Amino acid sequence: MSESKLYRVKPEIAASAYIKQPDYQALYRRSVEQPEQFWAEQAEQFLDWSQPWQTVWEYDYPKGHIRWFEGGKLNVSVNCLDRHLAQRGDQVAIIWEGDNPEHDKKITYKALHQQVCQFANVLKVQGVQKGDRVCIYLPMVAEAATVMLACTRIGAVHSVVFGGFSAEALKDRILDADCKVVVCADEGKRGGKTIPIKANVDEAINNCPCVEKVIVIKNSGNPVSWDENRNVWYHEAMAAAPDNCPAEQMDAEDPLFILYTSGSTGKPKGILHTTGGYLLYAAMTHKYVFDYHDGDIYWCTADIGWVTGHSYMIYGPLCNGATTLMFEGVPTYPDAGRFWQVVDKHQVNIFYTAPTAIRALMAQGNDFVTRSNRSSLRILGSVGEPINPEAWEWYYHVVGEGRCPIMDTWWQTETGGILITPLPGVTALKPGSATLPFFGIQPDIMDGNGNLMSGEATGILVIGKPWPGQARTIYGDHQRFVDTYFKAYPGYYFAGDGARRDQDGYYWITGRVDDVINVSGHRLGTAEVESALVLHELVAEAAVVGYPHDIKGQGIYAYVTLNAGVPPTEALRQELLQLVRKEIGAIATPDVIQWATGLPKTRSGKIMRRILRKVAADELDNLGDTSTLADPSVVEEIIKNHAKQ
Ligand code: WT7
Repeated sequence: MSESKLYRVKPEIAASAYIKQPDYQALYRRSVEQPEQFWAEQAEQFLDWSQPWQTVWEYDYPKGHIRWFEGGKLNVSVNCLDRHLAQRGDQVAIIWEGDNPEHDKKITYKALHQQVCQFANVLKVQGVQKGDRVCIYLPMVAEAATVMLACTRIGAVHSVVFGGFSAEALKDRILDADCKVVVCADEGKRGGKTIPIKANVDEAINNCPCVEKVIVIKNSGNPVSWDENRNVWYHEAMAAAPDNCPAEQMDAEDPLFILYTSGSTGKPKGILHTTGGYLLYAAMTHKYVFDYHDGDIYWCTADIGWVTGHSYMIYGPLCNGATTLMFEGVPTYPDAGRFWQVVDKHQVNIFYTAPTAIRALMAQGNDFVTRSNRSSLRILGSVGEPINPEAWEWYYHVVGEGRCPIMDTWWQTETGGILITPLPGVTALKPGSATLPFFGIQPDIMDGNGNLMSGEATGILVIGKPWPGQARTIYGDHQRFVDTYFKAYPGYYFAGDGARRDQDGYYWITGRVDDVINVSGHRLGTAEVESALVLHELVAEAAVVGYPHDIKGQGIYAYVTLNAGVPPTEALRQELLQLVRKEIGAIATPDVIQWATGLPKTRSGKIMRRILRKVAADELDNLGDTSTLADPSVVEEIIKNHAKQ
């Protein structure tokens, strides 16, 4: 492996950083050697508790049992709002920037607090009680934060479903979490296009007896169908709601939210996070990874439908009393300079986005960047997938003009917050490496047989010992939680990623080792896409794999076998694409559908995906062992047809 470039910490970044290089080693060592003391101190420093905890942590990985700060009581909205009012009531909490560049608004902590209390009262009036699940299916309207925080105020558990998911996908998630109320908008706006949010909800809840009320935010103002018994306008209910709402004192381990993510089987997993540990971990990582200082303007471009939007747009920043920017639009509308216009307009200091956005903008040329000023930027961040060194260098040199270190943060929905990352004042950067573990995190590399590897190594990434932000269960299916994360490598959390550790101990994430693919930073199970494809009556079988894609990181490649005698037509291909959009959403649309008269299988009937992945990736001279194939001619045909794609 060739020695990669090293970018040392710049003195001007180190000068103001909370954590400095000479202190880092000792701090890290203490965090893993005396975890109880370390985390107790952090929990006291970062959060306000109404009752102290009795035990810092307790865990039993084989049972999937993880508890933090048991006995402690607190409320998330109090930590994100009330406690800031005395000092920063008039400070802007949220800068909202619309899809339309002429639309923006600023919401102070005082105003946000008032709206959250009001909406908490609205939820109560609609029958929502502590522990009830509320589905949030919203575009990036400013009210999204209000709705999430209002749930936390009364102890309701929110389940945010990404606005790009279809009615069908929404229905599955509403049913799985047994949601009583859905909060949505009439329509969404992204990149100048309209998204039929309320219409999707109407379609979804036709089959959801658990849903009693749908609260609708007027956003586009266009007419939507209305059911007097079930529908409530947000603005009308808010106008009637008092702005005083006592906060429910929650146990540290009370559920905070459910967020669905894809696994290797067809059914998405409802990842459950709890109150105290999650909030502590989100706040602490936000402060140190981005070196957030009072007065900084911080912008995370993620959608609230993903965990990044939860931890690093809402909970972490607001818990720290930050000013967080929320963007309704897309990086390329009205043109590919939009991100940098917004940076200049709001004088953004810290900017956190995904490699897919960087690659898409890089492809549009430097002019869109260089026509902006960007001198406010101090720290850059990357998340969601491995960032290729070429994109990293462009982000660093063109966007950041060589001034701003890039925090390449590795984590997952299940981890609640960032686990492997540089720190601005500490870590020398290597383009493409997420570098080193955060405080309290103990990564390791395992070989395929479950043996720990030391020193330089390439294998499976596992994490020993829990951290406060870790997921506690899969909603309604604890056994799946145990089986997915704690079975394969006893005593460790199995993340599903492969990684290499280099001679400096730096981690390089190599991508998923399961049947999960990462499309534009969105996690998708290949099995989900396959299930959608085989719903078509003319489809006999489908196998879906990821393949390298210049912009998306991974593209979706589907091999489809039709029923005997059915001719493969362009019309049928379009029908299948449409079917996937309807079942999951546009993000899951295959980039390639290749017809196949048969799929490569072992003699026991198992599809050999390894071969399909190689073919999709054009690695034809390197198919590996094919001796167990039941019918080798199938592969020849697949290779021949691949060449025609
Ligand atoms: C998967 C988790 C973390 C929030 C957004 C995605 C991949 C994430 C990185 C990174 C390499 C990364 C992993 C991980 N991933 N960040 N910095 N470098 N890979 O959350 O949808 O739960 O997906 O995203 O494969 O397992 P998610």
